[in-house]
Amino acid sequence: MKYTSDFLVIGSGIAGLSFALKAARYGTVNIVTKKERSDTSTNLAQGGIASVLGQDDSIDLHIQDTLTSGDGLCHEDAVQLVVSEGPDRIRELLDLGVEFTHEHGGDGLELGREGGHSRRRIVHAQDMTGQAVEKALLARAAAEENIAFYENHIIIDLITQFKLYRRGAVTTMSDESCWGAYALDISNSVVKAFLGRVVVLCTGGSGKVYRFTSNPDIATGDGVATGYRAGAVVANMEFVQFHPTCLFNAKVKNFLISEAVRGEGGRLIDARGRAFMSEYHELKDLAFRDIVARAIDTELKRSGDECVYLDITHRSAGFIKERFPNIHGRCLELGVDITREPMPVVPAAHYQCGGLLTDTRARTNIRYLYALGEVACTGLHGANRLASNSLLEALVLADRAIQPAAADLEYRRAKPLPDVPDWDPGGAENSDEAVVISHNWGEIRRCMWNYVGIVRSTSRLTKAKRRISNIQEEIEEFYWNYLVTADLIELRNLTTVAELIIESALSRKESRGLHYTLDYPFKDDAQFRRDTIFRTGEK
Ligand code: SIN
Repeated sequence: MKYTSDFLVIGSGIAGLSFALKAARYGTVNIVTKKERSDTSTNLAQGGIASVLGQDDSIDLHIQDTLTSGDGLCHEDAVQLVVSEGPDRIRELLDLGVEFTHEHGGDGLELGREGGHSRRRIVHAQDMTGQAVEKALLARAAAEENIAFYENHIIIDLITQFKLYRRGAVTTMSDESCWGAYALDISNSVVKAFLGRVVVLCTGGSGKVYRFTSNPDIATGDGVATGYRAGAVVANMEFVQFHPTCLFNAKVKNFLISEAVRGEGGRLIDARGRAFMSEYHELKDLAFRDIVARAIDTELKRSGDECVYLDITHRSAGFIKERFPNIHGRCLELGVDITREPMPVVPAAHYQCGGLLTDTRARTNIRYLYALGEVACTGLHGANRLASNSLLEALVLADRAIQPAAADLEYRRAKPLPDVPDWDPGGAENSDEAVVISHNWGEIRRCMWNYVGIVRSTSRLTKAKRRISNIQEEIEEFYWNYLVTADLIELRNLTTVAELIIESALSRKESRGLHYTLDYPFKDDAQFRRDTIFRTGEK
């Protein structure tokens, strides 16, 4: 089965939807998304979108904060343009009807504060910013006749010129370019070919590669893994951001406690009530995320406790309930009244700062293949993303991609689409070995948490590399011998991402930003002030 559109957008978070809405002015858009359209990381984002809107703020200050956080690895051109173009993109969201929180009794937006920001600049919708944005974008997309959604479809692999050439479907191999993707319709196990003259990966991150994560179940690194298999350049995968404060609770697995809680005065304390962040950084609880996460890790290792606590009880109950209704309500359901008691928290994998390397128009090295949002590495985040810069990046890059994507479309419209063969299931039969998949899934996540976490060492990374390589062999055997299932596709992708994180971490023999290794505890600008690049390919 084949489905053709001008633009094929894979993923339905802020990046995919923002791009799709603008692309629909030029042609048809198919949005392929893994679960329901709102099952995205965007929808869970609490804190907000960093942007220069305050009277006391400036583009230069935001740029400086981003560069300091990125610890020497930011691409300055990307930082400059994302920060400068941010305010216009926020105004577009307001025009679309996103209900951001406004100042009491005023017209202006209420601006929050988060770690590493020298000014209040976080535009937010209480503590449910992503949900407000996703809702508005989805409503607009639903009304757009050029946009069609394909929910419950997971991509398996990209369709590239080289792949078609190898299968005899085209006769030339003039350049490496992308024509679409094969995707499994999870509802009926049928594999379909989605063709697009322009293909945009907006699949989010890979937090599920770690045992503890703030990410939703969809975050299995599908975009990075499929892009990498197709020959796209991958950069900086060692820089995995651990959010310092996820709720520690046996019943919920990924509930984030927004950094905005610390922005409004919340303090981290240990089980004995000691506020410890002043021992680690002069910015205390609002230090950069890598510093806060490592401080908590150190405290937990030292004390043997299972969690630390975040205390905002000094603020009035009225303020807490109004500013953080989501966090207050969820914690209350779980038996913690945050207006009266501190909440138990631990760090958890939160954001992939690396990804498919793109230019400042979201183009990858494969022609007609773009990457937007967490799946991409534009160079904005460097070695450590500044809080709330990610939704901003997605908005700005989606806008910047439109112009070259529209030009690509015009060029390709003049050419015939290739005759793409149906998916070849090989000699596959139904697998009843689901236990192999679930076992390997659990093993990867435990291995990554224990050996490739907040504090690393060469010996632990080497052990992880061995284990992941064994698992990889088993999965490849499975992949080629059995019919593909969503679980198998995700497991294969997770393993690829795990391999990329480990290899990148092993190759960076220094400590910088989010990558901290006991064997090389210092920064080495002379050798490592550069991106970590990996590229494999079918060639
Ligand atoms: C948060 O609300 O703490 C998350 C914001 C972010 O990761 O940028």
